[in-house]
Parts: sequence; structure tokens; C-alpha cells
Amino acid sequence: MAKSKTVYFCKECGFESPKWMGQCPACKEWNTFVEEPVIKREKSGVSGLLRRTPAAKPAFLNEISLDDGDRIPTGFEELDRVLGDGIVAGSLVLVGGDPGIGKSTLLLQVCRNIAAAGKKVLYISGEESLKQIKLRANRIGQVTGDLRFLCETNLEAIEESIREEKPDMVVIDSIQTMYREEISSAPGSVSQVRESTNLLMQLAKGLGIAVFIVGHVTKEGVVAGPRVLEHMVDTVLYFEGDRSAAYRILRGVKNRFGSTNEIGVFEMEEKGLRQVKNPSEFMLNGRPEDASGAVVACSMEGTRPILVEVQALVTTTNFGMPRRTAAGTDYNRVNLLMAVLEKRCRYEMSRYDAYVNIAGGMKMNEPALDLAIVMALISSLKDKPVSPGTIIFGEVGLSGEVRAVSQAEQRVNEAVKLGFDTCILPEICLEKIKRTDKIRLIGVKNLREAISAIT
Ligand code: TYD
Ligand code: MG
Repeated sequence: MAKSKTVYFCKECGFESPKWMGQCPACKEWNTFVEEPVIKREKSGVSGLLRRTPAAKPAFLNEISLDDGDRIPTGFEELDRVLGDGIVAGSLVLVGGDPGIGKSTLLLQVCRNIAAAGKKVLYISGEESLKQIKLRANRIGQVTGDLRFLCETNLEAIEESIREEKPDMVVIDSIQTMYREEISSAPGSVSQVRESTNLLMQLAKGLGIAVFIVGHVTKEGVVAGPRVLEHMVDTVLYFEGDRSAAYRILRGVKNRFGSTNEIGVFEMEEKGLRQVKNPSEFMLNGRPEDASGAVVACSMEGTRPILVEVQALVTTTNFGMPRRTAAGTDYNRVNLLMAVLEKRCRYEMSRYDAYVNIAGGMKMNEPALDLAIVMALISSLKDKPVSPGTIIFGEVGLSGEVRAVSQAEQRVNEAVKLGFDTCILPEICLEKIKRTDKIRLIGVKNLREAISAIT
């Protein structure tokens, strides 16, 4: 018998090699190569889609019409914004996230909303039985309209039913369980995932169906299977959040139809997910008043300002090496800010342990949080609470200067909306803000000025 030919793929980036290697030359990751059988392609080597469509003529920009009718609202404003104003017909959307975070629940609710609006929807699950889906559907409430379910993992069979049914939207729950017969490697392997996505892409583009693909994530937090998966789809969304906290954040990391960095906030309830329209209020819920080391900051997530509470706890260190931890923000950034405090403001931070936390478990890395982190540290160090009506934002530079941040006006407006009466911000940002008597604006140039403003 002839020896079957195999190739090696990098699990991270999809790099292909005829022999095994310890380190991937493309993405420099170690120990990521897996062996898989060679895929035999048809002679032409061109996908079915390209062969079928006649050659298109190049067009001028003014000949291209932007038809807004193609966008389908999902029934969740939070999701619509992340997608860039609704679902685009013929788009391929990848939804990644940890197990149990609520991907299936979210997509089932979207299917239900879209079916109720008169669209035809097909939900294909390779993970759960029809009974399990029904149990979940019973929790989220009445399903009306043309919403059908299918338990199938064979993509050829799935293709057949999609071509037959011609739905407006298809959900594939999860790509790692799907397989194509012509490829001999196991479901979830690099070539299966890639070829399955390829087929789904052809179906989406060829028939104008919006396809949502659920993808599992690895322990590093990226969608399992090769990176090429992310390159192939139009939109990549990550569903994240602390399993212990009720809220979930849907984050756009790639979007060909809108801006990325947008987030949607949801809350997991007894009856499925509920959108949180005012996350600032949600994040500040239960905030302790008059506690030292707590400061409210404002971070921009896409186009939306979100207020969060930054907490710091500074205690005398018992060992030679001070301990520092940062939850919800960058550890190195916290270390850097403490070094700036030590050098520029002469606080002996090396004598203290410091713990910094973004309350509520949100993850934020915007430099605009710097000033709030420093002020929280100072407040805890001196054991002096910052007035609860104060909000602080600004980037801190290495020489202790407070630098400008973008969209200052929106941040201030959000603070006004939630009833804050004082705002400490970079002085340079004052020029761009219309003064109101609703909030007192204190512009600061450096850390010293900021510290004297809170004490
Ligand atoms: P699920 O959508 O199955 O997660 P994924 O598909 O991302 O793996 O979500 C499952 C979790 O959500 C499960 O722990 C139960 C919880 N849940 C609720 O709290 N309320 C609900 O109405 C539903 C349907 C699920
Ligand atoms: Mg699921």
C-alpha cells in the first residue's frame, strides 16, 4: 500500500511545512506543529464560487450603491453596534468565547428575534441534541416565526440543507465539531476547521446568507484552530467576562463592516441574556462611599465612555520585595506608575505592597486610566478618601506630566449624566470642552497638581 502523504501545520498561524519543526518560522511559537493528511484538491484548484460567477467588470466608486436594506437588526442594540449597525447579508461572523459564557444562548436569542421579524433562520448544532436546544429555548421564552433546528456535523449534509432551505441566517454551533468527508483528519484539526470555514464562506457569499460561526477558545484565549480562521471571516467577536460576575462583554476585534473596539454589555439572567444599556451605572453599582483608595475613572470603549471604579490598596511590606498585583489592568503599567510616583513625587513606594483592581472585573488597558490609578494609590497610601463626586482621567508620562487623552468631552458628559460634580483631567483637554456649571473641571499639568487637587 502506498504510504499516505502528510503535512505539518502550525496550530497557531496555519503555517504549512513538509516536516515537523520545534518552532514555527512564521509566528515563532514553540511546539505548535501537528501532523495532518494532505488534502487532495480538484484539478482546477479554484473554488466553486469563482467558477460559477461570471467575470466582473471594475467599477467606479460612484457606480457602487450602498443599499442600507441589507442590514438586519438583531433585536439587541448592543450587538447591532458591535456589528456596525446590524447583520450584513452574506457576511461571515465568528463568535469566540470560553465554554459556558453564553455564546449559544446569545445566538439562540438573536435567531429568535430575527425569526420573529419575519426572517428565515436555521440553527445547526453539532454539540447539543434537539432536546437540549428545546430546554434552552424554553428558558428564553416563546419562539415564533420560521426558526428551525438541525443536529448535524457533516458539512456536506449541512450544505445540502442550506441550499434547499435558503435561510436568511444560519448559525453553526461550533466550527470545531464540523467535518468534511473528503478530509481525513479529525474534526477540530487545522485542516478541517479551515476547509469547513471555506465551504461556509462560499455558501455565505454565494447565497447571500449571514452565517454565524461559534468558535471555542484555547486556554490562551484565542479561537482554537489556525489564525487563518480569523483572516477568512468578515467579523470576529469575542464574548468574555468573569463567569462569577453576571455581566458579559461582547467585543469586536475585527469588522469589515464597522469599527472595531466597540463593545456590547449583557447580563446573564434566569431567562437568557439581557442587554445593559447603561454600563456605567451598572459598573458603579454598590460603590463604597468615603473609602480610601477608590477613584472613579472614565475609559472609552470604542465610541462609548464607561465609568469604572479603580481601587488600590497600599500596605507596608513585610518582606524585602514589595508585592504588586493588578487585576483588570496591565501589571507592568501599574509598576511603571509606581516608579513615576517614587521618582517624581518622592513617595517611597518601594516600602509598600500595592494591589490595584478595576472593580466589577472589567479589563481595561486605556492609558487614560493612569491618573485614576495613581490617585487611588495616593488616596490609599494617605488613607484619605477622594470625594465620591469626583471623576478622574488622564495619561501619565514618565516625567510625571499629565498628558492629553482623546474624546475628553464625551467622558465629561458621561460623568455629568451620572451626577458627578468634579472632574480632574489633563489641563490641555480643557480647551476642547464647553464649560457648564453642572460640573467643576480641574485641569492639571502634572502629578503634583493632581495630588493637591484631591487632598
Ligand atoms: P451557553 O450559551 O450554553 O454557553 P456556551 O455556548 O458559550 O458554552 O451558556 C450556558 C450558561 O448560561 C450556563 O452556565 C447556564 C447559563 N444560563 C443562564 O443563566 N440563563 C439562561 O437563560 C440560559 C439559557 C443559560
Ligand atoms: Mg454552546
